[in-house]
Amino acid sequence: MKEIKECSPCFDEIVGYRRSVRIFDPEADYNPQIITKNLKRAILAPSSSNLQLWEFHRVRDGELRQKLNEACFNQPAARTANELIVIVTRLDKWEQRIEANIEFIKSQNAPEDVKKRAIAYYDKIVRRLYKWAKRYPSFLLKLIQWFNGLKKPVYREVSWTDLRISAHKSVALAAQTFMLGMSADGYDTCPMEGFDSKRVKKLLNLPKDAEINMIIACGIRKPEGIYGPRFRIPFEEVYYEY
Ligand SMILES: Cc1cc2nc3c(=O)[nH]c(=O)nc-3n(C[C@H](O)[C@H](O)[C@H](O)COP(=O)(O)O)c2cc1C
Repeated sequence: MKEIKECSPCFDEIVGYRRSVRIFDPEADYNPQIITKNLKRAILAPSSSNLQLWEFHRVRDGELRQKLNEACFNQPAARTANELIVIVTRLDKWEQRIEANIEFIKSQNAPEDVKKRAIAYYDKIVRRLYKWAKRYPSFLLKLIQWFNGLKKPVYREVSWTDLRISAHKSVALAAQTFMLGMSADGYDTCPMEGFDSKRVKKLLNLPKDAEINMIIACGIRKPEGIYGPRFRIPFEEVYYEY
């Protein structure tokens, strides 16, 4: 069995350094390329069926930034950040992403039967899941899976709402990868869901099925930008071993 290292100080430092910073330092030496670097790290996050239904909309200044601050209720993290990254789920791009995966599989130098199976997964299972979820009402899809599940385990998250949740899960992993990357580079973030999603969507000209996952304020902390010591429910209260 692979030996488990006691701890990885570097990773512990990164996780420990990340805090939600509400006041950023406008005087700090800030390099916007760090954001690009960490968004490139973010897209290495895992995603459901590797569909990568994410987008990153970066807003630095100008009128759009002012309006975005307002849509974030002018909360301090938004107001004082060097830039804001709007993390978006693009459920509407499911077909494009299926095709991209199929093209990638086709381009691979792998045994034909392996490629055929991988393509069938996208072409039949994933495509049908999204197509049906878009076309049929949730109660009908749930009823079908309830019936199918009477005798064997089945996948039950088949409605459009379930797929929205699935997209948000994957996109949030990219968001966290971004924030930890920023922390590794000594930069700071504040994830925010305190905003008017309708207004933000309108500002960015996003289509109906796109959703705002969160907005991440970015910059370099002022000491007073951390509002207090970290509070966590004790590990023993949230940990179960079977
Ligand atoms: C999805 C999500 C939404 C959040 N929304 C806000 C927000 O709108 N404004 C804010 O100041 N902090 C927001 N936070 C930050 C949390 O309050 C913070 O993560 C929590 O208090 C723990 O503190 P820490 O991040 O410093 O460990 C949000 C965090 C998450 C994960």
